[in-house]
Amino acid sequence: MIDESTVILALESSCDETSCALVAGGREVLANVVAAQIDLHRRFGGVVPEVASRAHIEAVQPVIAEALAAAKVPVDRIAAVAGVCQPGLIGSLLVGLMAAKTLAWVWGKPLIGVDHVQAHAFSAALDAEPIDYPAVALVISGGHTALYHCLSPTDTTLLGRTIDDAAGEAFDKVANILNLGYPGGPVVDRVARAGRADAVPLPRTLLKGQSLDFSFSGLKTAVLYHVNGVPNARLTPEAIAVKGPGYGKGVAGLSHSDVADIAASFQAAVADVIGIKLRRAVRAVRARSVVLGGGVAANSAIRARAVAEAEKLGCTLRLPAMTYCTDNAAMVAALAWHHLAAGNTAGYDLEATPTTRP
Ligand code: KG4
Ligand code: ZN
Repeated sequence: MIDESTVILALESSCDETSCALVAGGREVLANVVAAQIDLHRRFGGVVPEVASRAHIEAVQPVIAEALAAAKVPVDRIAAVAGVCQPGLIGSLLVGLMAAKTLAWVWGKPLIGVDHVQAHAFSAALDAEPIDYPAVALVISGGHTALYHCLSPTDTTLLGRTIDDAAGEAFDKVANILNLGYPGGPVVDRVARAGRADAVPLPRTLLKGQSLDFSFSGLKTAVLYHVNGVPNARLTPEAIAVKGPGYGKGVAGLSHSDVADIAASFQAAVADVIGIKLRRAVRAVRARSVVLGGGVAANSAIRARAVAEAEKLGCTLRLPAMTYCTDNAAMVAALAWHHLAAGNTAGYDLEATPTTRP
């Protein structure tokens, strides 16, 4: 019988975090251990896939051991083992999925394959009340921007997605242009607090008609041109991106307050686009809840915009706790509980794929 006390152990390794979690009843987090690789990738200014997979191999066993010890759950109380099978960096995905298959086989438990982006869309249910469906869920992360119509945790239809850069990718690239360091999202968020959101006119790309797709590359390029066009700045875009003395001393003729204004204006443009797309989607499918997920859902301006938008629409807004915005295995275990309840288990031939299969 699958109930509130049913525990699932899950692994997550689709990008640059190795994580293992044990979650009961699809929402109560018993342990969620995350080993981040940010320091390994910082000097490259982004995630290097081969470096990431090798680091997952080193981290996966200690992370599993730590999660089991923290949850204090004996193996015979674990009902199933879940792994992420898509989408992600293929070498990284393989490590977590093989570890999940191995545990399932050795322990004689069912195996569950989970979609990483759909797990983000369910992260707001962790350590919280169940989500009220039908819902519109927006996942905004470093690698993905996806808008779903959800009838239940496992019955989801894609309404729209980015046609170029992901939201988090745009944050990371803008941080790079402004020489703010890596990863860019948190530092843009922090710096933007001292800036004026209406200081720099930037485009809001909404795509035609009632489109629910996203495009962030024009906005990123507009920031680049704005920075490159500052009087007396003779640096090329490449030079601005990689050189410069760091935020503490300013970027190519920009003062601290210029940088803060650009960060705040960029963030406001992203928040505007997200607000409008959420409104369009909620009206199109008559949703009762709006759910956010993914690393960019930690952004203060976007959270504030989502609060205002949901209030206007008369919807319940579900924001994940800050720790569950970025990649973690708890969201995978929580969604896997619903798959187990629906009988969606997988065989050992479950494949890892870099893109989302329907
Ligand atoms: O969900 P996540 O850990 O990874 C993917 O699945 O891709 O998201 C990481 C992304 C990075 O691009 C990071 O810059 C962004 O989330 N991020 C933020 C904030 N915190 C993390 N973006 C904007 N504001 C933040 N406060
Ligand atoms: Zn993610």
